[in-house]
Amino acid sequence: MKIIRTVRGLRLWRKRHSSERLGLGFVPTMGAFHIGHQSLMQRARRSCETVVVSIFVNPLQFGPTEDLGEYPRPRQTDLALCRKEGVDVVFLPSRKEFYPPDFQSSVTVSRLGQHWEGAHRRTHFQGVTTVVTKLFNLVRPHRVYFGQKDYQQFCIIKQMVRDLHQGVDMVMCPTIRESDGLALSSRNGYLSSLARRTAPVLYHALHLGASSIRDGEKSSASVEALMQSYVQKASKAKIDYLAVCHAETLEPLQRAQGRMVLLGAVRLGKVRLIDNVLVKNQK
Ligand code: PAF
Repeated sequence: MKIIRTVRGLRLWRKRHSSERLGLGFVPTMGAFHIGHQSLMQRARRSCETVVVSIFVNPLQFGPTEDLGEYPRPRQTDLALCRKEGVDVVFLPSRKEFYPPDFQSSVTVSRLGQHWEGAHRRTHFQGVTTVVTKLFNLVRPHRVYFGQKDYQQFCIIKQMVRDLHQGVDMVMCPTIRESDGLALSSRNGYLSSLARRTAPVLYHALHLGASSIRDGEKSSASVEALMQSYVQKASKAKIDYLAVCHAETLEPLQRAQGRMVLLGAVRLGKVRLIDNVLVKNQK
């Protein structure tokens, strides 16, 4: 496994390496790996000739009061996992290498980035689309792998790829969950033991909402009220949003019909959890 720390090094490697036959698969990450990341690497490994993973805690996607400083950085364990999963190249740039002092560009996806997470974390998605564009420009992948857990992020990057003709195939992989339903996240380690016990409440609420739609509920307001009252009864979590949305535009729906995504975010103490469930109802 090759570890590349510089932009120049990655460019040189990519110039020499043209895995055209089965393609180059790319897994962009911020490290602190869990089984969710591992499943992305495995999926890439199964379908691509070459697998590149990037590990970079991107400062542009953290707000001023967020956890950039504390974000876990277990580099040796992360690299060991990449080795185990047969990754070919790990791109591991420093902050200075990736954002030199005169860096001043950004990429914005306007409409999709305004709702939900975008409304709660104002500069987050611009930071994500900017770093992902830089990574795409350097790695030039054929296929890129993301988890469904960050559903809005996936939709925004997909839109960006389409709008900017970035020519990358986007693969969405299922959310990996603990046995009690909690979606794996590098930030779950911040949960106190009490918060950890109540954390699955978000997934259970979304699941309940999806079941009610499958059972014929057509009013999004009723589905949202059901999910809210579940969270309120089962925990002390503060709800940021629980919404029935169009699966592609992420616009809130009045009528629960067609391809939908139920999006949710709650706060348990200082920890913010997000999750989502896809549901379809053609009736
Ligand atoms: O999903 C993540 O881990 C990050 O947002 C990403 C896509 C690696 C960009 O920093």
